[in-house]
Amino acid sequence: MRTLILHTPKGGSGKSTLARELAVAASSTMQVALADLDPQGTISGWYQRRDAKSPALVTLDSAMPVQHLADAGVELLVIDTPPGQPPYIGKMLASADVVLVPVRPTPDDLLAAAPIAASLARHPAWAFVLSQVPPRTRMLAGALRQLAALGRVAPVQFTFRADYPAAAITGQAASEFSGKAADEAMALWVYVQSILGAADATTPKGKPGRSDRAQGR
Ligand SMILES: Nc1ncnc2c1ncn2[C@@H]1O[C@H](COP(=O)(O)OP(=O)(O)OP(=O)(O)O)[C@@H](O)[C@H]1O
Ligand SMILES: [Mg+2]
Repeated sequence: MRTLILHTPKGGSGKSTLARELAVAASSTMQVALADLDPQGTISGWYQRRDAKSPALVTLDSAMPVQHLADAGVELLVIDTPPGQPPYIGKMLASADVVLVPVRPTPDDLLAAAPIAASLARHPAWAFVLSQVPPRTRMLAGALRQLAALGRVAPVQFTFRADYPAAAITGQAASEFSGKAADEAMALWVYVQSILGAADATTPKGKPGRSDRAQGR
């Protein structure tokens, strides 16, 4: 089982939106579990409005044992985290196979990106994802340049589109419809798969993955 975490201390950046979009996109080809660690309950509320059974919503306790999920056949665990820096976050990020950090292309959000990059410096597979990017904005090029100086940047951005919150009204994801938002979500999932594939290529066959090792397997 691989673990993907959406994290940034900055509130409202797009963690929950990316988490459910990626979990839904991935669940068309694999067993996916989605965990909501945010007391605000964004993902839990969304799931209550959802008819489809996949991805599964799962509960994690603070010690984060996830062996039972792997044993139950879960292939990808997507974790939505709260804003801020909860005490468990460092250890949890270290054990994740991939960490995505959504950032809006505003001066305020870009200012907050440097300390996040510093805190993830030793993680081999993390990336910024530009989120809520206004269409045709001059801010995009500058934001890409600034983030690229700090770390890896996903080649796919989430544009500011009403389709993302509109899909969530009925507990769905934009990736379940056709359109530009769906294309972005699927493209970001393809990118995440490329990071996971690169990690596989550097893990000798038969050796445990990153999250397996961190959980003592
Ligand atoms: N690409 C987008 N286009 C339009 N609206 C968006 C987009 N991404 C997120 N939103 C909206 O912006 C708000 C914040 O997004 P979201 O809840 O995903 O951020 P978050 O980082 O999880 O926030 P928090 O830190 O409070 O957990 C929500 O109302 C969401 O519907
Ligand atoms: Mg959230």
